[in-house]
Amino acid sequence: LRVAVVAGGYSDESVVSLKSCELIFASLNPEKYDRTRVRILKEGWFAEIDGEKYPISKGDFSFEKNGEKINFDVVFNTIHGTPGEDGYLQAYFEMIGLPYNGCPFYQSALTFNKKDCIAVLSKYGIPHAKSIYINKGDQYSVDYIIDEVGLPCFVKPNRSGSSLGISKVFKKEEFEAAMTKAFHEDKEVLIESFLDGTEVSVGVLNYKGETTVLGITEIVSHTEFFDYDAKYNGLSDEITPARLTPEVEQRVRDIAEKAYKCINMSGFSRSEYIIVDGEPYFIEMNTLPGFSPASIFPQQAAIAGIALEDLMDSEIEFALN
Ligand code: DAL
Ligand code: MG
Repeated sequence: LRVAVVAGGYSDESVVSLKSCELIFASLNPEKYDRTRVRILKEGWFAEIDGEKYPISKGDFSFEKNGEKINFDVVFNTIHGTPGEDGYLQAYFEMIGLPYNGCPFYQSALTFNKKDCIAVLSKYGIPHAKSIYINKGDQYSVDYIIDEVGLPCFVKPNRSGSSLGISKVFKKEEFEAAMTKAFHEDKEVLIESFLDGTEVSVGVLNYKGETTVLGITEIVSHTEFFDYDAKYNGLSDEITPARLTPEVEQRVRDIAEKAYKCINMSGFSRSEYIIVDGEPYFIEMNTLPGFSPASIFPQQAAIAGIALEDLMDSEIEFALN
């Protein structure tokens, strides 16, 4: 079975994707899969074999090597951010009839848009922080926003990942700089109330046909919040399983499973919640959770006793059926 392990992307998360790709590549059993790294980068799309680059044809995602046309049977997508996590590539693979892992384009686009995902889950009774949404070019009053969400608050690009462009704002004077930073990543900004509670990250996936809560990890950041350095440069403790009472643990599991099912998800996901007084507040859902050595999802799999190879097999099988 010829598998394209697709990595890169057009956003600043490209660096993370190239790391995720390596762990996923290594976890795809070479006895079952003929694996090829494919890069989708701003510079172009190409297969990479032994340091050589072979341009990918956008018509059918094939490439040519030594005069032979090579087609893939399935795609294993490892791109965080656009165009791999927001639905564009999913729609493209759908259109050319090439099976791919993970969730379809709609679920990708919806979950990558924090505001819209929260709006949908809110309809299903899942709690979330109070927020205000601003498009680039909109007029806004800082006083009004701060009155609504309070301080501290979070200023976030609405569609981004790995905490890029996010600021925790403590003082009114810091607000404009935070907006500029967020607008650098996206044309849409979400400003959310700070929830003073326990942050947890919950892996949920479809494993061998069953919706499965992989694990609950408690995040203790050494920085002000779980930012890029806390995520990738060791400035956090990640405790699995999270230190929760059995009742709260069950509540988190139920909500996380409900969120996955309400959105009609498939494939891997990792959602973030802040638990305040025993109630988990939804922050966001990631449909392409990081697979760098520092990432949470592979740690949760290890603790759950699921070999990464089995996770990948389950994904490929789902993609092909
Ligand atoms: N967006 C990063 C890769 C994550 O969710 O793990
Ligand atoms: Mg994210």
